[in-house]
Amino acid sequence: MPGHAPAPLCTFSEPETPVTRTLTTEICIIGAGPAGLLLSQMLAQEGISSIVVDRQTRTHIEARIRAGVLEQGTVDALVEAGAGARMMAEGLPHSGFDLAFDGDRHRIDLAGLTGKTVMVYGQTEVTKDLFAQRVADGQTFLFGVDDVVPTDLKERRPVVHLRHEGRSVRIECDYIAGCDGFRGVSRKAIPADVLRTFERVYPFGWLGVLTERPPVSHELIYANHERGFALCSMRSATRSRYYIQCDLSDDVDDWSDDRFWKELCRRIGPETAAELQTGPSFEKSIAPLRSFVAEPMRYGNLFLVGDAAHIVPPTGAKGLNLAVGDVRVLARGLVRRYRSGETDLIDRYSEIALARVWKAERFSWQLSMLMHQFPEHSPFEKKMQRAEFEYIRQSEAASRSMAENYVGLPLEM
Ligand code: FAD
Ligand code: DHB
Repeated sequence: MPGHAPAPLCTFSEPETPVTRTLTTEICIIGAGPAGLLLSQMLAQEGISSIVVDRQTRTHIEARIRAGVLEQGTVDALVEAGAGARMMAEGLPHSGFDLAFDGDRHRIDLAGLTGKTVMVYGQTEVTKDLFAQRVADGQTFLFGVDDVVPTDLKERRPVVHLRHEGRSVRIECDYIAGCDGFRGVSRKAIPADVLRTFERVYPFGWLGVLTERPPVSHELIYANHERGFALCSMRSATRSRYYIQCDLSDDVDDWSDDRFWKELCRRIGPETAAELQTGPSFEKSIAPLRSFVAEPMRYGNLFLVGDAAHIVPPTGAKGLNLAVGDVRVLARGLVRRYRSGETDLIDRYSEIALARVWKAERFSWQLSMLMHQFPEHSPFEKKMQRAEFEYIRQSEAASRSMAENYVGLPLEM
């Protein structure tokens, strides 16, 4: 009929605005890695509520193979948090480790030089133990979240916005703990004119392998060989973890098991290689090496914790231990704030955490410089590495300094 538009074949309507779900809590924790899980555990012990959000699933997080060496302070923190029983039963206390240089070995006697030991217990197991505890306690988790954005950081009630199972969620809280690792969103929420970053990227990576075979030695061996660094570590009496320095351009597919074992044998020398039990690898990955610190570690009511604020190269095994150190400072500060209203400790969080972070950065950098082959090194720098090794070998003071850093420097709270 004239004047009437033909009826459309189908109709489109604007999608309904998804309903926003609002949740409230005292602390919103972004990231369910070891830092986020331990923080929620320590807060729950003191009756402080938290919601933990992660973009991954629990299964994914529990399967990530990473750190292996825990300082005494980390062990103590896990025990005090009520998540240390399996670690104490199954972990391997180590009272020393070896440095090797082109076949020459020197043992750093951690117990004799410092009176302290370290615990070999995988990060995967730490994470599983913490998850088991948190789930048993009824912790609220949101897994598989997207588009996480912390806002209103300078307001009394900051907000974390995110998407979860197709809905937008708004979490209102007193404080946000950014425990979301190096590639997370928390650090990026701090204005660029406030945040200062310091970085060194190393010109090689670590190729790591796990195998169901007994370790080559009952203690760890860090080796510098003219073909590159190698590390012999372990997860248990029947499971070994090995690393070799590799090119950044390498792909894991370039490294068959056979090639890996041959290269490791060359770098650890014939005597150690004679003891090596090789087998099929069930995990193989390449990790880049980086030193990185972001300052300050607090902005308004957002705290950066663990890898979100700092990265160390893995030489010296400090990353997870630093994350736990941050958590100890922050948890203590928050408990004080909720118990007595005093904010003095959380106000000093960044200062206290960074004092320890920088010392661990120095140690990890120094050990990395000593133990790797650098493409840009001249014969002079190679001689310097060798002289430093000889000095550590001959001087008890130098060995003690290495031991003191390896077992972990104290937190000055
Ligand atoms: P992560 O473990 O990185 O956890 C961050 C979490 O945040 C993750 O679950 C992630 O999914 C989540 N997340 C990220 N982005 C978002 C987002 N946008 N929204 C929501 N969630 C998000 N350290 C040691 O102390 N000793 C060792 O022996 C040691 N060996 C290592 C060996 C290797 C090969 C590597 C790679 C690391 C090693 N480390 C070691 C370092 C250690 O693994 C890390 O320092 C540790 O995992 C840091 O914990 P974290 O909780 O701060 O961060
Ligand atoms: C392991 C990793 C490290 O970076 C290190 O220094 C010692 C041990 C490990 O994964 O076992």
